[in-house]
Amino acid sequence: MLQKELLKWYASNQRELPWRNTRNPYIIWLSEVILQQTRVQQGLPYFNNFLEKYPNVISMSEANEDEILKLWQGLGYYSRARNMLKTAQLIANNYQGIFPNNYEGLLKLKGIGPYTAAAIASFAYNESVAVLDGNVYRVISRLFAKDEPINGSAGKKLFEELALQFLNKKDPATHNQAIMELGALVCTPQNPKCSECPLQKSCKALDLGLVRTLPVKLKKLKVKTRYLHYFIFEFKGKIAIFQRPEGDIWQNLFDLPLLEASNHLAETELKQNLLEKNWLQINEEVQFLFQTRHILTHQRLEALFFLVRTNNKPALNIQEHWIEPNEIKLKAIPRLFDKFLDWWKSNDLGNLTLKK
Ligand code: ADE
Repeated sequence: MLQKELLKWYASNQRELPWRNTRNPYIIWLSEVILQQTRVQQGLPYFNNFLEKYPNVISMSEANEDEILKLWQGLGYYSRARNMLKTAQLIANNYQGIFPNNYEGLLKLKGIGPYTAAAIASFAYNESVAVLDGNVYRVISRLFAKDEPINGSAGKKLFEELALQFLNKKDPATHNQAIMELGALVCTPQNPKCSECPLQKSCKALDLGLVRTLPVKLKKLKVKTRYLHYFIFEFKGKIAIFQRPEGDIWQNLFDLPLLEASNHLAETELKQNLLEKNWLQINEEVQFLFQTRHILTHQRLEALFFLVRTNNKPALNIQEHWIEPNEIKLKAIPRLFDKFLDWWKSNDLGNLTLKK
């Protein structure tokens, strides 16, 4: 039976990962939240740090958001980290700290979607539900040679049905881990190792020469470019930062004051904008420091950093805090700000120092 071949392959080829060989739903949940955001190798230190700091859901529920964001720093999509904390609080407060022990119960929790519910239900409780992540979509679409787009609604339904049909009902936990592992190690997007695949004899895509063309994906939305002009306002050795308000992906992270525009603002335009906002006095200078780019799924961020030294503390009206440069490292900050700090560490900003 094909499913047995898969388990046999998994038994001798799986990677040793700390969230395997556990039935603890908290540990499984934590690993899956992190792995939705990053690859296994990059996710491992985050997983270990979180687990060390919060060994169970109760301890996580008692964390404050800044601590969570600081530990999450670098993974991006900070709403995931905030939702993780909210889910921990919900489980602590409304479920006596105990995860529901089945798929439907897990799915009722705000913050746990079909993927995570299936992962916890099958890995922790051995429930017969199929886990579908990008790896599984790819394996299934090739195995059955289906060219429905994996990110369209009809395709999703079809692949859910096929994955459930293919699920090894005798050992759903190991089957789900194994098919994900096959997708990660063998049935890879580029250059899949079909000759090593335990499913090669039954793979329709291999038989029909379609491995390269599957899975099919609908084209993504057009990427939007945003131009962010950041400012280091320096007043008596301190700089201004503010906590980002609700409504964007960096909510509650600390950031530099900024102006956003649909294009790069030339120096005169930039000064004009700052004068209008009262962020700059007429005799003050704006000095360009550094430029970088940051790519997100649907956005391309072009960031420029400028220095404004001032003897008149400007009212920025963004509930700014004036802090010593070295206090920044205690705060959770967006990746772009971090890139700027890296630049700053190896570049002189006169009397503004940042310890290496
Ligand atoms: N990617 C997402 N979940 C995973 C898991 N449990 N093991 C390995 N890779 C994964």
